[in-house]
Amino acid sequence: MFTTEGPTFRELTVQALSSIERGYDLLAPKFDHTPFRTPERFLDATGEMLEALGPFDAGLDVCCGTGAGVGMLKPVCRKRVVGVDFSAGMLEAARESVPAEGAPAVDWVRADARELPFEGDFDLAVSFGAFGHFLPSERPAVFAGVHRALRPGGVFAFPIGAPQPLSSPLYWAMLGFDSVMRVRNALWRPSFVMYYRTFPLRGVSEDLERAGFAVRLLPMEEFGRREDGSPNWRLVVAERL
Ligand SMILES: C[S@@+](CC[C@H](N)C(=O)[O-])C[C@H]1O[C@@H](n2cnc3c(N)ncnc32)[C@H](O)[C@@H]1O
Repeated sequence: MFTTEGPTFRELTVQALSSIERGYDLLAPKFDHTPFRTPERFLDATGEMLEALGPFDAGLDVCCGTGAGVGMLKPVCRKRVVGVDFSAGMLEAARESVPAEGAPAVDWVRADARELPFEGDFDLAVSFGAFGHFLPSERPAVFAGVHRALRPGGVFAFPIGAPQPLSSPLYWAMLGFDSVMRVRNALWRPSFVMYYRTFPLRGVSEDLERAGFAVRLLPMEEFGRREDGSPNWRLVVAERL
């Protein structure tokens, strides 16, 4: 699962027993050598779809980590790209890995995604690989903050996977992971929220609509379709009304 440059089992265990913020601070120097960084294939597919929806001036990557989404946004946005994350360690790694020179301007902001500090600054927001860190009860605060950060007509876009069928080994792997995490969080403080099965399309769309977005779903054909013909992955495109 990890290359030799990735974290050791011991390092991962220490990280998983920390808070989310501290865990990512510790993981930051090796994060890009883990499967937790969003793969280029997802970033490229999203970037191509966003280019067709643009042009955009200013883009925000929510929970930017080491900057995967910021790098994707650079060719899509003309003026400014901002990455926001609450882990100082991840932001430091991002500053080192994403070139700052040239247009658009790149900025990094340390903030909690449940209390985003922006008001109408962006016409595009994205997020990758981080929604599992929020309990369903925290989603409204995250979506309200993104809504506030966007100008009217601005777009919040992110990929979402179809649920796995019961017959898939991945279904059982994710169920097993979430169960272990629930036990860990019942027994240990600080909690580390990371669940694979708490971000269902229907609940997410309803929360987006309640926050004031009009939601469209675009199939990400690059990732194929399920036996029933539905896409394996969709791009959620939520427009601020
Ligand atoms: C799995 S990493 C994904 C990083 C990057 N988006 C990517 O796709 O490679 C999750 C990121 O979410 C950040 N994060 C988790 N909860 C957060 C919160 N409440 N506010 C801000 N950042 C948060 C973590 O610090 C971490 O950098």
